[in-house]
Amino acid sequence: MIGKGAEANIYLSGERVIKNRISKAYRVRELDEALRKTRTKREARLISLARRAGVATPFILDVNNPDTTVEMSFVEGLQIKKMLNKASKKDRLRICREIGRSTGRLHSNNIIHGDLTTSNTILAGDKIYFIDFGLGEVSEAVEDKGVDLLVFKKSLRSTHYKFEKECFKAFVEGYSREYKAYRDILERLRIIELRGRYFTERF
Ligand SMILES: Nc1ncnc2c1ncn2[C@@H]1O[C@H](COP(=O)(O)OP(=O)(O)O)[C@@H](O)[C@H]1O
Ligand SMILES: [Mg+2]
Repeated sequence: MIGKGAEANIYLSGERVIKNRISKAYRVRELDEALRKTRTKREARLISLARRAGVATPFILDVNNPDTTVEMSFVEGLQIKKMLNKASKKDRLRICREIGRSTGRLHSNNIIHGDLTTSNTILAGDKIYFIDFGLGEVSEAVEDKGVDLLVFKKSLRSTHYKFEKECFKAFVEGYSREYKAYRDILERLRIIELRGRYFTERF
């Protein structure tokens, strides 16, 4: 086993990664099975769409739905979460710009990642791979794209807080280069953040 997330066990078999969504005891059985099936199918579909949009992702090799398993190629590299704080400033900014570019590409193709964090991005060679699309969707909604950006910003804040500002700025540079409608999304991000503040202050 190479990874254990909240939802899945990840095994490495040769060059293949086998991601098996495990059942959650706290969920009603029928709901649990339905969720695992949709997320498995969704993950395979969105990874393929993202790849076609020009974003580096693993190759999907097999999807086994009754089993709720996806098999994909192994991306040999370093999780961005584990290396970003140790990287030189130059590399750090370059990586964040690149994550921004890929996100811009996803969004200009109406692909929402759904869990855009530094845990779900891998540096391999000089490319950044995106993984873990199980919570993603295809959507044109400005709100959904804004939430993707918020999730990324929060992942910077929680794990890379010293660099949040410079990293997010670099991310936006890349994002705006790839996605024409970036201003609308950034404006929505601002509103979503204000909304969040309003709720935490009042309740
Ligand atoms: N194709 C892959 N290549 C290399 N590592 C992977 C791959 N898929 C998953 N991993 C590793 O396993 C971890 C968990 O996988 P992920 O798809 O993010 O599942 P979860 O939904 O549990 O977070 C990742 O953070 C990564 O370190
Ligand atoms: Mg993950």
